Amino acid sequence: MAEEILRITGGRKLRGEITVQGAKNSALPLMAASMLCDGETVLGNVPQLTDVYAASRILNRLGFRCKISGNTAKIVSGEGETEIPDEDMRAMRSSVMFLGPMLGKRKRCVITMPGGCELGPRPIDLHLDAMRQMGVQIREQQGKIVCQAEHLHGARIPLPFPSVGATENVIMAAALAEGETVLTNAAREPEIADLAGFLNRCGAKIAGAGEGTVIISGVKKLSGTAYSVMPDRIAAFTWLCACAAAGGTVCIRGTEPKDMESCLSVLSAAGCRLGICKDRIYLDCSHPLRNVRYIRTMPHPGFPTDAQALIAAVLCTASGTSVIEETVFESRFKHVGELLRMGADIRVSGRTAVITGVSGLHGAEVEAMDLRGGAALAAAAAGAEGETVLRGLRHIDRGYDHFADAFNSLGGNAVRRVISSAVR
Ligand code: UD1
Repeated sequence: MAEEILRITGGRKLRGEITVQGAKNSALPLMAASMLCDGETVLGNVPQLTDVYAASRILNRLGFRCKISGNTAKIVSGEGETEIPDEDMRAMRSSVMFLGPMLGKRKRCVITMPGGCELGPRPIDLHLDAMRQMGVQIREQQGKIVCQAEHLHGARIPLPFPSVGATENVIMAAALAEGETVLTNAAREPEIADLAGFLNRCGAKIAGAGEGTVIISGVKKLSGTAYSVMPDRIAAFTWLCACAAAGGTVCIRGTEPKDMESCLSVLSAAGCRLGICKDRIYLDCSHPLRNVRYIRTMPHPGFPTDAQALIAAVLCTASGTSVIEETVFESRFKHVGELLRMGADIRVSGRTAVITGVSGLHGAEVEAMDLRGGAALAAAAAGAEGETVLRGLRHIDRGYDHFADAFNSLGGNAVRRVISSAVR
């Protein structure tokens, strides 16, 4: 069987600039939200990702017309199915985000459990409980979750945990529900404000998105519009981390630095020099870096769980000991075993990783076990002596638009190759 790999030759400084891609975690909910709109929605700055194509497939199966060309997605309203097939639910773990808009628009949605995933179990109880509070009846039938609302109405919904996906689902369902919804302990990730910005432009009445309390006054109808997806803060951080791991100077354009404060302050604590100029971030880094004593992942504005593996790759060669505690997901240290193959010194106990800096990493054959863990291995490989062979590219393709091209335009040396798996 053939398999694609990335050969990364490391050990030389990065130098270059890049305009960051549109945000995966905004493009996906915006595509789902376009289901609520009559007429045509045109989304710009959509990254070319396998998750985006999976979302497009779901839209088409449900009777919408979604066409992606380059970085533009056109979605036209339509009638059709209310059931998302199991294979689509599995293909993209975040397919649960179609639940809210389907209920808002068609008052019915049948899904299956997104199931366990590479980050540990990914329950959807918070989504379902919130929908129940809005008048949705939910029953399980032959492994399917059938959600139906005779009368979808606003409600006061306190979220037990500020789940990003549950916050988005409530906002999307409530946009066309009757009356007012007050969502408290809402997630404050910037992608939520982007979603509300889009829906408001379509005619919705949403206040407070991006803050802990979001108030949605249901309207009768939303109309499609043109909207540009916000920049991807985790992709921007990926390129900064690659430069921090390898040393050098890079400029990341088209970013929103205020959304990245917790990430930037950690890089600066590690000894990187940062310059911020409107939508550009400059990073200048010479080694050795310093350890960062303690990093704890938290919902926004805390340090993002999606950035955890990336900073770990950087701290592998910082002097001294760094501690990272993962509080958001149960199992998010699968990259650690691969970093050990590259010469890192990391011990994991439960949800904590203790990284003791080594003088350098070396290339090795490693495998991406999840999206950000895979990107972290590439960042580590940029700074490692010799060649790294990175497998498991399907994870990276879910979230990075032409990863190798972007990496190389920053002075990296990555070549994508098809190999026969037998040769591995
Ligand atoms: C989103 C992001 C993902 C990011 C995560 C946390 C998208 C497409 N994905 O995922 O990249 O890592 O936010 O910032 O935007 N939980 C429950 N029950 C639920 C829902 C969530 O227990 O019903 C738990 C999860 O298992 C996890 C935690 O809450 O431990 C955070 O999940 P959540 O914020 O919902 O993440 P996602 O929306 O899935």
